[in-house]
Amino acid sequence: MKEIKTIEFKEDALYLIDQRKLPVSYEIFECRTYKDVYYAIKEMVVRGAPAIGATAAYGVVLAAKEFIDGEKKEFLSNMKKALSFLNESRPTAVNLMWAIERMNNLIERNRDLSVEDIYMKLKEEADRILKEDIETNKRIGEIGNQIVGQKATILTHCNTGALATAGFGTALGVIREAFYSGKDIFVYADETRPRLQGGRLTAWELVQEGIPAKLIADSVAATLIRDKKVDLILVGADRIALNGDTANKIGTFMLSVLAKEYNVPFYIVAPTSTIDFSIETGDEIVIEERDSKEVTHIENIRIAPEGIDVYNPAFDVTPNENITGIITEKGIIKPPFRDNIIKLK
Ligand code: MRU
Repeated sequence: MKEIKTIEFKEDALYLIDQRKLPVSYEIFECRTYKDVYYAIKEMVVRGAPAIGATAAYGVVLAAKEFIDGEKKEFLSNMKKALSFLNESRPTAVNLMWAIERMNNLIERNRDLSVEDIYMKLKEEADRILKEDIETNKRIGEIGNQIVGQKATILTHCNTGALATAGFGTALGVIREAFYSGKDIFVYADETRPRLQGGRLTAWELVQEGIPAKLIADSVAATLIRDKKVDLILVGADRIALNGDTANKIGTFMLSVLAKEYNVPFYIVAPTSTIDFSIETGDEIVIEERDSKEVTHIENIRIAPEGIDVYNPAFDVTPNENITGIITEKGIIKPPFRDNIIKLK
């Protein structure tokens, strides 16, 4: 398996594969300050819920480094501001808030230590988040592989691979695991308009690994599903409510309706850090709206007329009744989702 280092921290800087540039060029984006990290998340140099969480954790480390020379009181107040700034970089993926809260709890637990010691602890915690995410994904891959047939055609949406996580991937991690365990796998990858994470990133990862696949325009999925050309749909998640409602990349909801209509198993694949235990239903999830230019332009070339208004939500919410199960590192959550999700807490 090829190793893809989406996120790497060395010598006081964070290095990210610049996902805006793939697959045309492979470039590394360097973050030296927590504001660089905010920019990288907001502008989607790095994207995908678990990857955003781990990146933000290193943003906190860089903030601590910047404020390390201050008095403790000043350091703590600067850190508070930096944490809430990073928390605002994107609104939907709860892994961001989860990672920031974890870093904040660590600061709170260690407020009596010296500023240098707090910095060291933060660095260790960010390293742990990164390492745990890879281990979690591998476990998800093994668990998810249990529902993949010996020969299976799998449809996936957006990018949920090594690029969207600290490594390996969630939905794409299950596909990887199935492929490497010797199963006869074929993948249909939705291109995922408007940012084309499927066309640019999932296709890139599939090609790197040599996993048999075809890239399709999003609207091809309906015909494939109706014609029984898809055995299983696997997608990721940005936030899962207590009742199982799931926010994921725009277009996921539409796929779930098709899956229900044509009886195709539809699974969400996500770490438990993507579950927001504080919200009851998907109605409470803030859906990010992004720049209209993502729709009116492709690679800076205008494809829509000047003057047209655009609606560009980046995510949608799939209602729990359309979901067959949620594959996590702790097992596969089946309906009734609320009862089974609460048990995980
Ligand atoms: O806008 P993006 O590219 O950050 O959206 C990514 C997704 O919707 C993914 O499916 C989700 O974060 C899961 S990634 C393992």
